[in-house]
Amino acid sequence: MHGIPTLYIGVAAPLVEISRIWMTGLPEGGHKAMKDFPRREINAYRFKWLDDDRSVLTFHTGVRVPEARVQEVIEKWSGEQPACISTSHVEPVESIDHRRVVAELRATLQEQPVRIMTRVGLTLQQLQRDLSQHHPELVLLNAHGTPDGCLMFEDGRSGGEIVSGERLFPLLEPRPQVLFLAACHSGGVIRRAKETAEWDDGAIVYINTETSVKVTACAAFASMFYPALLQGHCVDEAFAVAQQFVANDPVMGDFSVVGESLAPSKKFCLADHGRQTSLAVPDFKAVDETDHASSEPPYPNQLRRTSERIVGRRREMQQIINAILPLPAGITAPGGQRRVVCLTKEGGIGKTTIALEIVDWIRERHLFPGGLFELSCESIRSEQELLSRLLSLFGLPRDEHRGDLLALLAEVIRHALPAGQPALLMLDNLDDLFGRQADVALHQRATEILERMLTTSGSLRMLVTCRWPLGLSDHEYQMEIPPMQEEEARDVFLSHLESPQHRVEVQETWAQPDSPIRHLIRMSGYHPQSLRLLARQMGRKGITLTHLRDEAHRDLLAFLQEPLAHDNDQDRLKKVEVSYELSYRHLSDAGKRLFARLSRLPGGVWCGEEIDDWLDWHDLLGKGWRHILEAELDYFALVHYDGNGGSGVFAMLPPMLEFARRKYDEQDDSEWDATWVDFWCQHVSGWNDLISGRVPDSWDIPDEQRGIVGLQMQLQATTCFEQTQDNWLTLFDYLVKADGSLATSLLLDMVSFARLSGQLMLLRDLSQMAVDKLRKSDTETDLAPCLVTLGNMLRELGAREEARESFREALEIYRRLAHTHPAAYDAAVAGTLNNLGTVLFDLGARDEARESFRKALEIYRRLAEAHPAAYDAAVAGTLNNLGNVLRELGAREEARESYGEALEIYRRLAHIHPAAYDSAVATTLNNLGNVLRELGAREEARESFREALDS
Ligand SMILES: Nc1ncnc2c1ncn2[C@@H]1O[C@H](COP(=O)(O)OP(=O)(O)OP(=O)(O)O)[C@@H](O)[C@H]1O
Ligand SMILES: [Mg+2]
Repeated sequence: MHGIPTLYIGVAAPLVEISRIWMTGLPEGGHKAMKDFPRREINAYRFKWLDDDRSVLTFHTGVRVPEARVQEVIEKWSGEQPACISTSHVEPVESIDHRRVVAELRATLQEQPVRIMTRVGLTLQQLQRDLSQHHPELVLLNAHGTPDGCLMFEDGRSGGEIVSGERLFPLLEPRPQVLFLAACHSGGVIRRAKETAEWDDGAIVYINTETSVKVTACAAFASMFYPALLQGHCVDEAFAVAQQFVANDPVMGDFSVVGESLAPSKKFCLADHGRQTSLAVPDFKAVDETDHASSEPPYPNQLRRTSERIVGRRREMQQIINAILPLPAGITAPGGQRRVVCLTKEGGIGKTTIALEIVDWIRERHLFPGGLFELSCESIRSEQELLSRLLSLFGLPRDEHRGDLLALLAEVIRHALPAGQPALLMLDNLDDLFGRQADVALHQRATEILERMLTTSGSLRMLVTCRWPLGLSDHEYQMEIPPMQEEEARDVFLSHLESPQHRVEVQETWAQPDSPIRHLIRMSGYHPQSLRLLARQMGRKGITLTHLRDEAHRDLLAFLQEPLAHDNDQDRLKKVEVSYELSYRHLSDAGKRLFARLSRLPGGVWCGEEIDDWLDWHDLLGKGWRHILEAELDYFALVHYDGNGGSGVFAMLPPMLEFARRKYDEQDDSEWDATWVDFWCQHVSGWNDLISGRVPDSWDIPDEQRGIVGLQMQLQATTCFEQTQDNWLTLFDYLVKADGSLATSLLLDMVSFARLSGQLMLLRDLSQMAVDKLRKSDTETDLAPCLVTLGNMLRELGAREEARESFREALEIYRRLAHTHPAAYDAAVAGTLNNLGTVLFDLGARDEARESFRKALEIYRRLAEAHPAAYDAAVAGTLNNLGNVLRELGAREEARESYGEALEIYRRLAHIHPAAYDSAVATTLNNLGNVLRELGAREEARESFREALDS
């Protein structure tokens, strides 16, 4: 039985080609001398005659070939020194859409007896290494070719490296049995390789020298060619069927061409030698695919990508990648390499789009084996939150975020990032922490965090987007994202046009310098987001390019004297603003109103079948909200929809949100403001009830189902909280300034969720904010509960002494209030005593803790007598705490009593509300077991532990 053949797919897809362009005259022998042109010595390519009588020649060389060498070699040939016209000519390289080609091929060959290896980002050396390591029988090279016999490989840093046929072929060792050069003009490569490409023991498929070939044709050809080979046909036969297959294709078949053009199927050629080669194929199928990159680097939390494809930006991407990749060993940058690349400039210019595309590009090439990490920093409002999010990103569970978080982060990074293995952290949207409006102290502390990370790990690099430079002087390489190039801008516009007629019109009139499309593109400021808005305006009924051009021109005249003139930064920003206004102006009144109101919902509108039952958006946004969102706001690209399956979110990009906020401020919508406050307060409060897991007594549910129903309620509430977090936090920010009482009740409704989702840090910040604000007012009734919440968060985060102070301050207030209104505040006094007891216990002040619990218990017992349903749980909780302190104090009998009584109550409650109290029963049983063991009652102790495990 034979081994399974390997198909090696090498993809070279550089972003740009960087070359030197040279000019030289012909030597004495005239054109005959061209035969001896020293191409090989200087890797020359892309020859062109500059004049009609063909006496002046231009050609390119790679930038790695030293100028002096070119001068020397050419002078020897022509007798005169060549002139260097450009020392670094940058030409974007067209995408070859390899992701789809590879995916399609993998799907076709899924059931075939073949092992597939993909190498994206092929360099010449990598190819050589892969051939010698893996000995693939089938090699498919997917790359660009030049008409004069070269292939474009990658240079390892996103640039292209031109390799001529005579350099390539001798390196193809050991030889594959079948080589497919899927590159335009690849016949030229073979011609240049001469006898080194005459293989008797292997076949070569290539593309006709004179033509280019479409990626889709290559994919179709391969999808027929390889299965035929794997079924045992010789290359000659497999080639013929694959060619027929392309010829019969309904889109690119032989009937698709007009005039003299060569049909796609005829572009495929088979070298004369080795045509009878056939593969030794095993007689079994379906092999596990193995990829050479079996150990994928860590990539924990990917940010969401849009489905739209990025257009252009290859020059910028190349520069950024070049700056962010570690330098090769032995090469140093003067002054050291900067490890943070910060993409700056105004909103909507494409920073996030570029950054995400770069991460994808890097991931395909396995360039950061230490891992890729992405974090959106859009809603981060404090350095503690930033730290906490980073800790989670690097793998530390939230309930372990306590103590000195900065030191903890350093430790976690040391552990998560192996030394010497480059890792990349992408931080999107740092505007709120580092931007112009950010608080100076916050900016400074955020700077410290990034600097500490960089000094902790020498192999960590960061790719950051922020409208302004971060100011990390020693580490930062700042890169301003420029407006798009004119042709790229046109392509973005085209990519957002819906109507085929409009697309044809753009393409047909582009060449005319004064066409409406040229004007429109100029008036967009070459800003991608504006281009998208303008293109979407073409969806209006009856609109033409001329009409839209005139509208934009008229609007711009209010700000600019000459809208079509070349612009500076200021002018460009005005153009962007006008494109927003233009879209807004054409909304219906209801659309305008909804658009402005959405500025109060930075977390977007989360919707879907089930979700619409949980969140009654029509109460907030009015009855026809969904239709307006889809038919107007999404249609004109003012919002976008991110979703999969039946659920998703309608949201706005940051600059649009700012624009909507301005519109909201211009409208007087105070009545709706009240609806908005009410909407979130009610929902959050309702979810907080659900999260307790207490199924209301009034619900008619059989006992055995109460547990599962309670758990479902908790799950639903957690999801609702999570999905709308940015929205209710926005309300909280508003209420802290506007209404202390409502802010307090909203805060209290967040506590359970914050605990459950491990967001203690966030809740500590929010309660601190509320406390600071309320201390300045005279509303002690609101201040006290916020102090208690703050105390709880501080305690859970390990700041015990601060927590004790918070509880003491709250207790003082509650005692004062209870003095005059005992009925209203006794419970609060008891609750605070209980909390204070817990922190005193943590601090080792056991006697004081016991006193605190006893006092609390006394009050709760009294209250429970009158209202058992309301206070039984509190009595049990306090008994449990008291038991703990008694046990520590050596009063074991008393402790047992305490636990025993608590258990009895919890059992009763768990019978009615299992989801809410089952865990309390288990904890108390455990405590009881411990004290029974200490008392020597082994059998009883064992019974207690067993029951704890079962419950
Ligand atoms: N190269 C591109 N090709 C196609 N669309 C683009 C390109 N660049 C940006 N866009 C579109 O423009 C819009 C804004 O881009 P993006 O969100 O990347 O901007 P940004 O600079 O990150 O803005 P902000 O500062 O607000 O975060 C997006 O809708 C995106 O789809
Ligand atoms: Mg962005």
